[in-house]
Amino acid sequence: MTTIAAPIMRQRADLTFKQNVQHGRHGWLRLTPAYSVRLVEQVLDEFGAGARSVFEPFCGTGTTPLCASYRGLSAVATDINPFLIWLGRTKAATYTLADHELFSAHVQSIAEAISTGSSIEAALPPIKNIERWWNAAELAFLGQLKARIQCIEQSPTKELLKVVFCRTMMALSNAAFNHQSMSFKDTPTDQQLALDLEQATQRFRQQFILDAKVVGDSCLDNPIGDITIERIDARELDRNGFRNFDMVITSPPYPNRMSYIRELRPYMYWLDFLVEAKAAGELDWEAIGGTWGIATSRLQSWTPTDAFVPDYLYPVLDSIRGAHPKNGPLLAAYVHKYFDDMFHHFRTTASLVRQGGTVHYIVGNSTFYGHLVAAERLYMDQMSRAGFRNVSARAIRKRNSKKELIEFHVIGTR
Ligand SMILES: C[S@@+](CC[C@H](N)C(=O)[O-])C[C@H]1O[C@@H](n2cnc3c(N)ncnc32)[C@H](O)[C@@H]1O
Repeated sequence: MTTIAAPIMRQRADLTFKQNVQHGRHGWLRLTPAYSVRLVEQVLDEFGAGARSVFEPFCGTGTTPLCASYRGLSAVATDINPFLIWLGRTKAATYTLADHELFSAHVQSIAEAISTGSSIEAALPPIKNIERWWNAAELAFLGQLKARIQCIEQSPTKELLKVVFCRTMMALSNAAFNHQSMSFKDTPTDQQLALDLEQATQRFRQQFILDAKVVGDSCLDNPIGDITIERIDARELDRNGFRNFDMVITSPPYPNRMSYIRELRPYMYWLDFLVEAKAAGELDWEAIGGTWGIATSRLQSWTPTDAFVPDYLYPVLDSIRGAHPKNGPLLAAYVHKYFDDMFHHFRTTASLVRQGGTVHYIVGNSTFYGHLVAAERLYMDQMSRAGFRNVSARAIRKRNSKKELIEFHVIGTR
């Protein structure tokens, strides 16, 4: 088992989701859970010779299946989040010239209808403190936009319009997502906007047209290889009859308390994947590394399963537990459960990969109260125990200004 450090460690923005914005369908929505297209391309270039099928157990925004499919490989991807399943399928779908024409016609008629000032009945999503996200003028516009898209009959075009809606909704939002926190920008007040509501609506309308252009421009770049995306728990992959993949390429949740639900909430509420806050907590509890709402309180009474966790993790857990009277025990349970879950994932993944097939995990390490959680080393040991051979890890980039926070490519062979 080897860990190879990169000679010069830099942050490499080209190896993060930021670079995907320039990549057609990959750039439809800018979501931080995504990893970089370039990274997947590099893995396929180096290890993909002769491969015909790829499996992605943490599909997220669909980066892996799309990259694989554009090379003609078939891809199966799974995730736990229903919004991401919808997004992945919409990005992976095949659109015809007729779909594109219908899409452009709908964009034009919706934009015209909204600028005439006539409004139809529209409901706003039950997002807590919604006025912090959007002011009254923005909310009125988004409500109308959503209602008009909803009126369209079910079709591939309608799904594309929902992607456009998501882009516009985020472009108008005051929220800024930083790594662990979320902040709200200062924007004109409702009063200031009311002075020129018509001008504001025209600006929002322009944004919608711009967003529609981005989606329309790449909707005809159809994938080549078959793509299947299913909602399946990554700890139970052996129950679904998947077999014989040549490669697994993925970026799982990192053990760093990042909640996908936190960032995805606005999308999920607006598109009706979430109707109440409680459901967000339930979904995060199902997610590996989830700590949102109810997930936090359930962690306090969580007990380990029969999963293999390397001995050297226990002193690290003790140090984290002792570092803070209230949060230390919670964070120690969080880290322990994360690796307990990941072992079940590795164990069930082993049955999906053909003999000689390779698996590729892009994962970052983390620190809690200064105590290092060496995810790459823990992955290597858990993967070996789960039935993978020749496991190794290479450092690929620094994650931020803290020199100890590094992203790794962990590799194994079945
Ligand atoms: C780092 S993101 C994946 C990013 C993805 N590779 C991309 O490019 O968008 C991790 C993903 O794991 C998913 N996830 C978390 N727990 C899961 C579980 N128990 N089963 C399946 N997927 C899960 C999350 O919903 C999230 O989409």
